[in-house]
Amino acid sequence: MNTFTQPFHIPQSRRTLLRSLLLTTGGIITSDIYAEALTLTPRATEGPYYPDHLPLDQDNDLTQIIGGKAPASGIVMEIGGRLLNVDGKPINDAVIELWQADINGCYIHSQGTQRGKERDPQFQGFGKITTNATGEYRFRTIQPAIYTGRTRHYHFAVLQNGKRMLTTQLYVAGEPQNEKDGILRSICDEAQRLSVIREFKPKSTDSQDLLATWDIVIGMTPEDPEQRRKGPPPGPRPR
Ligand SMILES: [Fe+2]
Repeated sequence: MNTFTQPFHIPQSRRTLLRSLLLTTGGIITSDIYAEALTLTPRATEGPYYPDHLPLDQDNDLTQIIGGKAPASGIVMEIGGRLLNVDGKPINDAVIELWQADINGCYIHSQGTQRGKERDPQFQGFGKITTNATGEYRFRTIQPAIYTGRTRHYHFAVLQNGKRMLTTQLYVAGEPQNEKDGILRSICDEAQRLSVIREFKPKSTDSQDLLATWDIVIGMTPEDPEQRRKGPPPGPRPR
């Protein structure tokens, strides 16, 4: 219903990096140097609640269902950025999916209702968007509730030509439970771990909506469906 055409800007960290590269290379940046600068978004388990029945409305505004009587309950959060390859080139025409818990911690899944809770019928629970020529995507959704055993998180998948290239999870900076979350902690590489923890800031001074910018960086290899369910193999604990 809402396509969120508002563009996103290159994050400050990358602009700073580019500026320093320009200074140190006399203005010449090769794609190899740039490639090393980008951190691949780490894979994560799909978890048990990828929708087993998809909603009719699957657009990128999860706060409103077509024909719904009211918006979804919860704090509105917007997430957007660009889909990039390791060379920093935007990836056009890829599908990004988002699925997540509602304000009660419930998913659109036949087993996804938390004990003693009910799913918010106004919350779409799953949405998708196709990236544009500059790799941009954007979602409008709500803050998911924390449910037993996990910190607050969003589930994302990226598909190219119908193949699942990445399954991952996004986290909210400053959540106390982040320190204890087994799936977040299992990301051994610190740069990769930090790349999936984003700060959500007020969208504007007169709005309670929160906004986070998140660029997703994918490689060339499609996912193995078995690993997607189990998650990546365990490695050493993060420092
Ligand atoms: Fe989850």
